[in-house]
Amino acid sequence: MEQKYIYKHPIYSILKDPGYPIMETATAFAPTNIALIKYWGKRNSFYNLPFTSSISISLRNKGTLTTISLSNDGKDKYYLDKKFMHKEHPFSQRIFKFLNGIRPKKLGFIIHTQNNFPSNVGLASSASGFCALVLALNKLFNWKMSYIDLSRLSRIGSGSACRSLWNGFVKWQSGKDFQGKDSYGIQLNISWKEFRIGIPFINKKKKIISSRIGMNHTVKTSKDFFLWIKYTKKYLRIFEKSLYEKNFQNIGYITESHSLYMHTIIENSIPPIYYRTIETLKIQKKVYNLRKNGISVFFTQDAGPNIILIFLNDIEKIIQKKFPGINIINPF
Ligand code: PMV
Repeated sequence: MEQKYIYKHPIYSILKDPGYPIMETATAFAPTNIALIKYWGKRNSFYNLPFTSSISISLRNKGTLTTISLSNDGKDKYYLDKKFMHKEHPFSQRIFKFLNGIRPKKLGFIIHTQNNFPSNVGLASSASGFCALVLALNKLFNWKMSYIDLSRLSRIGSGSACRSLWNGFVKWQSGKDFQGKDSYGIQLNISWKEFRIGIPFINKKKKIISSRIGMNHTVKTSKDFFLWIKYTKKYLRIFEKSLYEKNFQNIGYITESHSLYMHTIIENSIPPIYYRTIETLKIQKKVYNLRKNGISVFFTQDAGPNIILIFLNDIEKIIQKKFPGINIINPF
């Protein structure tokens, strides 16, 4: 049940007084992150609060660089990968809606955002995008905010963005507070030098349905949604313990089954949403076959057709051979 809103913009639950920019321009970078235990479904859409906690791995040098400046004419302008985005474009609307909670009257912003990986294809570009924006705003307004508050503020823009403040494994604790005071990212104290992430192909087609719309639809219409939530809560605990123990087999099997189960409940919504494509299934089958032959590689899939592999460095050469052109990331 959603509670009554106290503030007219969710940002004011964190920033009571945004103040005024102290410089004309500020720049920041944030890595994107891939959830291994995923977030899907909001218990409160206004404050962007999840039903369950989630755990991700950041892609270290793959992410978003954002520069925000004050405009001379009080008008907003948004450029994504050097392309001007019309103010009616859904990306612009989302960003400026967020900035409406911050801007002093009559102040316009010019935003230049550059991703060093494809945007809006289900590779969490909104995570690094909103996180980089919040980090740049923190400089522009000289807020000197703590990482916890920066994480809570990023969460208002995009849920997964609250995990992009840090490198390595990050847990977004769902929290219980109705305004989300206790809902933010926490970096897990784990350094796993052997851990690798692989992105075998990139389908650059735009997502069929945004995660925001997709998850609301799933919560409303998928009959097994709350079973998945129960499963997530149980397996998150085992997953976290396995991370500290560096038990890669557990991590792999839980990652893969959690993602498959999430797509099952998404496909069970009415009408169904299919993020998987033929290409997705081909890669999944290839992974199963490799495992049959003793090669320990597992996959996960976000709200798009792209598959993300996880494995350890001892099989890096084999993975490169089996998936020509694969992009391998060493997150530590
Ligand atoms: O934060 P959003 O609205 O981009 O949703 C993220 C949804 C998933 O990427 C599928 C899962 C996750 O936890 O990142």
